[in-house]
Amino acid sequence: MTDKYAVIGNPIAHSKSPLIHRMFAEQTGQDISYEKIEAPLDGFATMVERLRSEGYKGCNVTVPFKFEAFKMCVMQTGRAREARAANTLLFRDSEIWGDNTDGAGLITDIEQNLGFKLMFKDALLMGAGGAAHGVVWPLFNAGAGIVIANRTVEKAQHIAAEFEGAGTVFARSYEELAGKRFDLVINATSSSLADALPPLPDGLFKPGALAYDMMYGRETPFMKFAREQGAALVADGLGMLVEQAAESFYKWRDVRPDTRPILEKLRQS
Ligand code: ATR
Repeated sequence: MTDKYAVIGNPIAHSKSPLIHRMFAEQTGQDISYEKIEAPLDGFATMVERLRSEGYKGCNVTVPFKFEAFKMCVMQTGRAREARAANTLLFRDSEIWGDNTDGAGLITDIEQNLGFKLMFKDALLMGAGGAAHGVVWPLFNAGAGIVIANRTVEKAQHIAAEFEGAGTVFARSYEELAGKRFDLVINATSSSLADALPPLPDGLFKPGALAYDMMYGRETPFMKFAREQGAALVADGLGMLVEQAAESFYKWRDVRPDTRPILEKLRQS
C-alpha cells in the first residue's frame, strides 16, 4: 500500500518538495505519495489531525507553521528543540514526533556538496528570524564561530544569549561589521524576497570564503554582491532544500536518497 506524506504551508503553491520527494521515491523504489497542502493560517492543527485520521505517515511543515508544529509534538528530537521549530512530523500510533532537518540540510550542503569544512571557521549569519534561528545551532555544533548580524540588533542578541559562555557566538549590528572578515557569510534574512541587500560593508570575505544565500531560484542581490566582493564560492539555498528533504525522507523511510543527481536535475530545469 502507498504510504501518504505531504507538505503543509501557507503559501505552498511554489513548493518544490513534492517534486523532490517523488524523485527520491523513484530513485529508491519507495512506494509513497507526497502532495502539497495549503492550510489556512489558523487551521494548521486541524489539517494535521485530518491527515492523521486519513492514515498519512507524516508530513513536512513550512512557513509559517514550523513553531506551531513543534508545539504539537509529544516527542521532540534534540535538533527540533534547539530550533524550537519542526519541519518534519512523523505520525506514530497516537503520537506526533517532531524533528527538524533544516539545519542538517544546510550543514550537509556546505560540508559535503560544497566541500567547505565548518570547524574553526568564522561565520557571519545575517538575520535573526526563524530562518536564522533554525540554522544557528547546527552551525555552532559543526564548530563554527558565529557573528549574528541583524538590523534589529536586540533579536540577534536574544539568539546569541542561548550560547552564553560558549565564547563563540556574538550579536552585532551591520555597522559593527566594518573591518571584520569572515570565511563564511550566510544570508538568512528575507531581504532577497524583496530584491534587497542587507547593509554590508566592503571587504567582508576572507580568501577562500563561501557566500551562501538560503534563498533559491535566482541570483539574489547578496549573491551578486558576494561575487563582486571576491567571495571564492557563491551558493544559493537549493542544495539545502534538497538535503533537508533527503534527511526527512531518510527519517521516514530508513533509506537515504542520493541527492547529487537530483540536485543536478533541479539545477537544469
Ligand atoms: P524568516 O522566518 O524568514 O526568518 P522573519 O522572522 O520575518 O522571517 O525574519 C526576517 C529576517 O530578515 C529578520 O532578521 C529581518 O531583520 P529585522 O529583524 O531587523 O527586521 C531580516 N530582513 C528582512 N529584510 C531585510 C533587509 N532588507 N535587510 C536586512 N535584513 C532584513
